[in-house]
Parts: sequence; C-alpha cells; structure tokens
Amino acid sequence: MTISNLGETVTLCGWVQKSRDLGGMTFIDIRDRYGITQLVFNMDDDQDLCKAARNLGREFVISATGMVVERSNKNLKIPTGEIEIKMTGLNVLNAAKLPPFLIEDETDGGDDLRMKYRYLDLRRNPVRNNMVLRHKMAQAVRRYLDAKDFIEVETPVLIKSTPEGARDFVVPSRMNPGEFYALPQSPQTFKQLLMVSGFDRYFQIVKCFRDEDLRADRQPEFTQIDCEMSFIEQEDILNVFEGLIRTLFKEIKGIDLPEVPRMQYSDAMRLYGSDKPDTRFGMQFTELNDVVKGKDFAVFDNAELVVGINAKGCAGYTRKQMDELTDFIRRPQIGGTGLIYMRHNEDGSLKSSVDKFYDEASLKLWAQAFNTEPGDLVLIMAGQKDKVRKQLNELRLEMGTRLGLRDKNTFSALWVLDFPLLEWDEESNRYHAMHHPFTSPKPEDIDMLDTAPGEVRANAYDMVINGTEIGGGSIRIHDRELQSLMFRHLGFSAEEAQKQFGFLMDAFEFGAPPHGGIAFGFDRLCSIFAGLDSIRDVIAFPKNNSGRDVMIDSPATIDQKQMNELKIRSVL
Ligand code: AMO
Repeated sequence: MTISNLGETVTLCGWVQKSRDLGGMTFIDIRDRYGITQLVFNMDDDQDLCKAARNLGREFVISATGMVVERSNKNLKIPTGEIEIKMTGLNVLNAAKLPPFLIEDETDGGDDLRMKYRYLDLRRNPVRNNMVLRHKMAQAVRRYLDAKDFIEVETPVLIKSTPEGARDFVVPSRMNPGEFYALPQSPQTFKQLLMVSGFDRYFQIVKCFRDEDLRADRQPEFTQIDCEMSFIEQEDILNVFEGLIRTLFKEIKGIDLPEVPRMQYSDAMRLYGSDKPDTRFGMQFTELNDVVKGKDFAVFDNAELVVGINAKGCAGYTRKQMDELTDFIRRPQIGGTGLIYMRHNEDGSLKSSVDKFYDEASLKLWAQAFNTEPGDLVLIMAGQKDKVRKQLNELRLEMGTRLGLRDKNTFSALWVLDFPLLEWDEESNRYHAMHHPFTSPKPEDIDMLDTAPGEVRANAYDMVINGTEIGGGSIRIHDRELQSLMFRHLGFSAEEAQKQFGFLMDAFEFGAPPHGGIAFGFDRLCSIFAGLDSIRDVIAFPKNNSGRDVMIDSPATIDQKQMNELKIRSVL
C-alpha cells in the first residue's frame, strides 16, 4: 500500500505489531510479510470500532478494512510511511498470548528463547529476510545450472554408510531387524553412479547429515549444492562453478566478483598456515629460518620453522596489548608457547623482545625480510612446522579482526588446488583420504603411492570465500583397478572394499565415463551473502550447539512399543 493507492478501500490481513491509544484516536500498526501499515480508528467516526481496536493485543491476527488516506506526519523510513488506513471495519481472526519476546528487529529475546519459539522469531524482519535471501539464492542456482543443462535428480536419504570423515546418523530398519540405514553425509556415490548412467550433468540442492561436533559453520543436517559432470577436466569444473558463484554475486548482491584467483594447497599452507585463507587482507607469512638461526637463541635454533607476520601500524602496541596477544596464542585451543616481536618504531629504530641475542644488524635483516616501515610490528612464532603454521594462522586472523581488515561487506574468493590425496591420522595410525576415497590422485604422482603416500597430490579443489570453505570437490577415479588400489592404501582389505563399495567398483566395469564434481555448502554460502557469523540464521529450524531442536524437543526417546517393533532392546 503506497501513496498511489490513495482513496482506495482496502482490506489488510496480518498481525498487530503495536497499538497506541490517544483517547479520541487509536493507532494500530499491522504487520504482514510485506511490511507495516498504520491503521487509524477515530472515536468520532465509530465508537464501537474504536473500542474494539483498543482491545487488540500484540500479535492478534486481524483483518482490517478502510480507506487509504495521506498521513499528516509522514514516516519516510518505511515504504508505507506516507499513508494510513482510516478504518471502517475490523475482524479479529485470532487472539494471541503475549509473545515471550519482542517481535521487532531488535528483540529482547535471548538465543534459547528465540529457538524455543522459532516460529515467532521467524516473524521478525531480519530472520525472515535471511530466508527470503536463501530462497532467491536457491532459485538463482537452479536457473544457472538448468541453463547449463544440469539435471536435478533426487537421491535416496535412507542409504548405507559412506566414509567421508564424519560419523553417520543411523536409522533402524523394522523390516530388517538388527540392520540399519545411514543418512547420507553427501550423495557422493549416487552422483557418480548417475554419471555411469550417462546423465552427464547432475545437480541437487540436497540435505546432508553428519554426526560431528558443531560449530558456527556446522549443523548436523545441512544443505549442499551437489554437482557432478562427465567427460570433463578439472579446468571445466573450475570454470562452470566459478561462473555459478560469480552469477550469484551479481544477481543477488549486484557485485562483480573478479576472476577467482588460484593457489596451490602447499602455498596456502606456507603463506597463510591454512587451507582456507582469508584473503580479504595480506599479512602473509614470512619464513625466517635463514635469517635468525645460529645466534644462540635456543627457541629459534631448535625450531623446525621460525615464521612471522608484519602487523602494519601496530608498533605502538602497549605492554598490555602485547600480553593479550601472548595470552591469545597460549589459549589451549591454539596451543602456542610464546610470541616474539620486533617493533619498527616511528623514529626508525628497531626493538625486539630478544635484544639479548640479536643486535641491530641482525634486526635490520628481520626488517628487510618483512619489508617493514616505521610503525610496523613484527610477530614471530617458532616450533614444529605444521603446528606453528596453524598457530600463526590464528594470530593472523586475530590481527586481521583487530585491525578491521575483515569487513563482512568485502568478498574475497579463492580456489585452493592440488590438495594432498592422503593425510596421516595419529589416532588410527593410518592414512585417511583427505577429501574422500573416490578422489583421483594426480596421474604423475600415482607411482609415489607406495614410496611416499603423504606426498601424493590429488585432483581436488576447494573454493574459499573470506576464510570459509564454501565448496570442495575433485576429479574422481573411474577405473576399478585404481579404486581398489586406493582402498588398499586406505587400509581396506579386498573383502572389506568389495563389501562396502562393491556396487561402485562393479559399476566402473560397465563403462564409467571420466567424471568429477563439487559440492557447495549452501547454508555457508547464504550466511556469507547475508553477512552473518553463523549458518543457524539462514536455516528456518536449526539445531543448537548440542544438536538439539529445542522447539520440538528432539532428539527424544521412543516408547517401548516402537523399540519392540524395531527389535531394539535397551539403550546403554
Ligand atoms: P565436503 O565434505 O567438502 O565434500 O562438503 C562440501 C561442502 O559442504 C559444506 N559442509 C557443511 N556445511 C554445514 N555444516 C556441515 N556440517 C558441513 N559439512 C560440510 C562445506 C563443504 O565445503 N561429496 C563431497 C563433494 C564432492 O566431492 O563433490 C563433499 O561432501 O561448505
């Protein structure tokens, strides 16, 4: 309803946002999906109607009829702010209890309360807008992929366990006592079978289930944009899906995302200590082994890697701020031991926390290595290579945040390529597939599977936006022999491999085309587009950090009759 509707008689249906009683006049704000409109009830026009209006409480559902008139005091901040409706009829469709929190953009409801009454939370603009954004993104994804001849195919939800790193959720089978389905962690094997079936280009916006510890960017059930293509090479996949992401940025946010740069996994680790670097800001790592060793400073001399970052403009950090940083890297979840620093003071002098071991000439070499300018602060850590890189990554991100370099409205995407095929798992004392067991090794590295398995690179790629892994995929193995070899290297006996994945390896013998694909985390993509910290806010009915839905109160026990039918005796 806008000024263009002046003079029209209209009926609006919606919820009472708030009411103001000024004696002779009562004003009601009615809210529907499209916004808020002011209703005016005048004692002089209709006393009964005005009295009825006074009895309306917050969130009552009403149908209100009246004429659109121009407002004397306009509110230009809202689209309907130039008009109001002079009421002639009111129908209460349903009364409402007082809601447990304010249904307004800024609410007084805490997280738990809002989750318990999520259907009320979803009435609030910011939450509903996130769902609208999600809807628009899903439609844009479908349009793009449809135009590129992808076919949307639904794959089953009751399947058999596929090892992709996380635990499965399982479902007991009543008709097959003692046996269980697993909910898919992804439709990986099915999409590969669709390629064997000749579907050529598949996609699905699909629920996936993983029983893993939850974080801000993880839910036990989440949604992927899952895709697979045949007769392609890695380059084709990167191009088609970079196109998808750039189209989404353009259509949804009106942003021209530049061509997505590419980086080798090994470089990402060396320069950022992470396989998902936040490239909104620089602050790349500088390695210092050649510069600092041999000066009797045991911490550096004994370290496998000495590496640091240049925090520009931070030379003036106080003692307290430096202590905060040291405490930060010593937090148990980061596990650093100490932080060494050098200030490049405004007057040009260099001052380090280890002056005892390094004279001015040595510090000049540090300054050169980091390309420092007056005002800069160099932060250095030392230790075992992989660990120290991870720790410095955390410090780099912390500094990025402190320096305001991680703006939510700036977007920096990156392809990370050539992941290792395998990673060593300390707990099980064997190699695991870094991506999944169906990922193809780089042909030129296959010979190293026996001699140096940890060195073998995969045809695998991730897309990272602002330091979040939003998608990952690979070129697949499509040959039975190579797939068997892979399972052998992952510690499967031939029988185990056949039992678990015989269906896929058998399929490879019936004319499997070369194929590959990718899956994007749809919730993550939506939350980045919405500028949110957690994917919960782009999911209509999310789980909390303990995997519970506090609204319907699940998971829950089931009654004995159901247990009996399922032949489940007791729970430990
Ligand atoms: P992957 O395991 O990398 O690959 O998953 C693809 C993307 O899904 C998102 N994601 C999640 N989002 C929310 N909550 C979770 N618990 C969660 N786990 C993963 C991430 C991730 O990049 N089948 C392969 C894809 C392929 O090879 O084609 C797969 O599932 O954004």
